[in-house]
Amino acid sequence: MDEKSKAAPRIEELREELRHHEHMYYVMDAPEISDHAFDVLMNELKRLEADHPELLTPDSPTQRVGGKPAEGFKKVRHSRPMLSLDNAYSEEELRDWDRRVRGLAGNAKVEYTTELKLDGLSIALHYEADKKGGARLVYGLTRGDGQTGEDVTSNIRTIRSVPLTISAERLQKSGVPQDFEVRGEVVMPEAAFTKMNEEREKQGLAAAVNPRNAAAGTLRTVEPSIVAQRRLDLYAYFLLSGGEYLPMGQEAILDALTMLGFRVNPHRGRVHKVEEMLEFIHSAEKRRATLGYNIDGVVLKVDAQATQQRLGYTGRAPRWALAYKFTAEQALTQMRDILISVGRSGKLTPTAYLNPVFVGGATISRATLHNADWIERMGLRIGDWVKVERGGDVIPKVAEIVEDADHPRGTARFVYPTICPECGNAAAREEGEADYRCVNVDCPALLRGTLEHWGSRGVMNIEGLGEAAVAQLRERELVRSVADLYKLTEEQLLTLERFGKKSARTLINQIESSKHAGLARVLMGLGIRFVGERTAETLAQEFGSIDAIVNATEEDLARVEEVGPRISRGILDFFSRPSNRQLIEHLHAAGVNMTAEKKQRSTQLAGLTIVLTGTLPTLSRDGAKATIEAAGGKVSGSVSKKTSYVVAGEEAGSKLDKARELKVPVLDEAGLLKLLEAGAQNDPSELAHDRAM
Ligand code: IVH
Repeated sequence: MDEKSKAAPRIEELREELRHHEHMYYVMDAPEISDHAFDVLMNELKRLEADHPELLTPDSPTQRVGGKPAEGFKKVRHSRPMLSLDNAYSEEELRDWDRRVRGLAGNAKVEYTTELKLDGLSIALHYEADKKGGARLVYGLTRGDGQTGEDVTSNIRTIRSVPLTISAERLQKSGVPQDFEVRGEVVMPEAAFTKMNEEREKQGLAAAVNPRNAAAGTLRTVEPSIVAQRRLDLYAYFLLSGGEYLPMGQEAILDALTMLGFRVNPHRGRVHKVEEMLEFIHSAEKRRATLGYNIDGVVLKVDAQATQQRLGYTGRAPRWALAYKFTAEQALTQMRDILISVGRSGKLTPTAYLNPVFVGGATISRATLHNADWIERMGLRIGDWVKVERGGDVIPKVAEIVEDADHPRGTARFVYPTICPECGNAAAREEGEADYRCVNVDCPALLRGTLEHWGSRGVMNIEGLGEAAVAQLRERELVRSVADLYKLTEEQLLTLERFGKKSARTLINQIESSKHAGLARVLMGLGIRFVGERTAETLAQEFGSIDAIVNATEEDLARVEEVGPRISRGILDFFSRPSNRQLIEHLHAAGVNMTAEKKQRSTQLAGLTIVLTGTLPTLSRDGAKATIEAAGGKVSGSVSKKTSYVVAGEEAGSKLDKARELKVPVLDEAGLLKLLEAGAQNDPSELAHDRAM
């Protein structure tokens, strides 16, 4: 035997063994060999791979830390939006939810799974069939805005509890199709967080405020070797295939994930009644301090998939799941000062400056103070002792003033300013409002806030247009409105501090590409009162162009469901101002797209569920999926009795067998194309189904 043919089997053997030990160590917390023995195996593999570079594969355990992503992180659309969860804070809210669920579930028996609510950030991992009948990790995305995430694969690969490959055996046992997507939470364990902050302190860097922010920052670090040192962890809780749910209940999903080799949080259960939910919640609360990672509540999910589907979704969250949030933690500290800042709507916002105090997993020195009303009612004084409160992700707030023998009241009563601290003009409070607002429409604070908001994530997404850049652009008077952003040149940016050739070009490119963000984003960016993401989307769909909205009458707006009198007033007020109308003209002139494509509701394939398998002669998998969906059809990842057609190409696998077994009609690509044409000849009204979520 020559060198190479001896090396190949040994390399495979070492990889298998190392994968097993990684799983035992990082997922099961039950190592079978010493760290040293592990290192010996790893070193042998590294040596063999160095001697035989032709045998190196990206899924080798030696390849967790690879190169940097060349162009930063690519934005990629999620196969299905990553939603949020509705929250409950009390037993009463929990009971209300349970009642609602049972009401909507009809006759179905309702059972729930109980899980911990991990305080990290959610990610989506995509796996695809490999040549050995198993699957391999192809890419991983952050949640981003829920629709589109960032491709952080190089960093996710460094997380030892994320399997790079999954064996055919595990896959088979789990019953999961070869192409699948795992969703879960990336957390930074407390020990890793403490270590990271100690190191940052040594380097004279500011400490990260909490493990969640640290985990988020780490995942977006462009140097995978740094990410690898930070020891992030992944807990998996959700499984999809081809953007669709697998036909499994939530408990079965957690079991399948375990079978696949993912880390699933061991503190989980299955309950029937609210009393049992409360029991789980209390025991989680007790355990909270000793887990070694942060949790901020408990997640309850309806177990049965049929019931989940029946319950469906609201815009942002499933109706079949609920996050029960632990009540906020409180701490006592002294308030040094109150400062007032002015937001983009001109609102004056009071902030308490505090003696630093540790609460809810982080040291804080600032807290919000509600509004002017509250401050007046409480008769707040500088020097008061206050209880500050902080729940998982909420900004800390001052909850109450404490007064006793050890904590005397402060001396100087705080008088709420009636002039704007930014421009010196009057600030006024309208009837029935709790806040003061600066009355000056040219207040510099408005422009600053508007620019920052315009560029922010989920609005126009202009990376690099942060606080520092905005401050400089205003100072130099390079921009007087958001429309001026589109006139900036690279040369102008180069004259600003902290801008080099590369960052200047990137910002210009980012600004340029924001022109295509579309009407809904522009509407959000304008900062019209009461117009948030959802309303902006609705308005964009209903009116189709900014001009139609600018010229809309009260009656036009009233016709739109979801737009009540309050929102309508906000819109009419906004566009009644000449300066705002002028701004729209300038944005038009700058070439900003302010139209929305009407979502085509094609219906040729409405009501049909189609499964794709194998390689089609001309259409790519994504292309075929997009075509089917554009025609109103659904693409599913697995074959069931409900499947209308299986479209099979070359090397079609088990899905084709399943189709035959269940007698689901099978088409080739030509058949699919014919179906599309044939469908088009039908009267669409006959086929039209309202596609419920
Ligand atoms: S399920 C559609 N399960 O909480 C289902 N989420 O506040 C959505 N989270 O975005 C998620 N632990 O990042 C689920 N056991 C758990 C979770 C969990 C933490 C996070 C997740 C989600 C956020 C919503």
